[in-house]
Amino acid sequence: MALIAPSLLASNFLKLQEECEMLNNSSADWYHLDVMDGRFVPNISFGLPIVEQIRTITKKPLDVHLMIVEPEKYIIDFKNAGADHITIHYEACIHLHRNIEQIKSLGLKAGVALNPHTPIILLEDIITYVDIVLLMSVNPGFGGQKFIPNTVDKIRSLKKLIHQTGSQALIEIDGGVTVENAGALLHTGADVLVAGNTVFKSANPTETILKLKTSD
Ligand code: DX5
Ligand code: ZN
Repeated sequence: MALIAPSLLASNFLKLQEECEMLNNSSADWYHLDVMDGRFVPNISFGLPIVEQIRTITKKPLDVHLMIVEPEKYIIDFKNAGADHITIHYEACIHLHRNIEQIKSLGLKAGVALNPHTPIILLEDIITYVDIVLLMSVNPGFGGQKFIPNTVDKIRSLKKLIHQTGSQALIEIDGGVTVENAGALLHTGADVLVAGNTVFKSANPTETILKLKTSD
């Protein structure tokens, strides 16, 4: 069954505790936490203190998506703040293999994220080292954008690469995921769906999470 990772970026920050309690009581699998630095992406979101606070209110895995330059400088800090998974961008890492190993050596799951324009083939020599591949299905930086359709072809190529290499990596899709497109993404090979606006702006977020989870 699909893993669902609601993105707190679309939540009501004034009611963060209630939003977290809703997630705890829902069928959500992971908390997806989008960290933006205003340099790698043209937006600033939240950082360590928020991750630290959220850690105190949930036992569900914290899936931290670092949209920041030089992520290697902050990996230890995010581990100490309570991250379970750390995903870094292919485009932000000169020494991706070293940085992935750094994350894993701390006992965390390591993910690599690809921007929409970055081809799957570039993962050939890193795929067996990572636990998660996050495919951006919008340009990173903002919630509530429209799904980029060629992501579906990328899921197909990635699935093939994973199969050929014997990699155990999970495929996570991030951006513009809706109740309408979730089924197709899962059928094509996605394992994890991130959803921000679809969950938090819906009339019944708990029900929406369940709908996403059972859409395959
Ligand atoms: C975008 C973030 C996404 C975002 C998804 O840069 O990485 O996780 O919060 O939001 P929706 O689901 O609203 O597109
Ligand atoms: Zn994200």
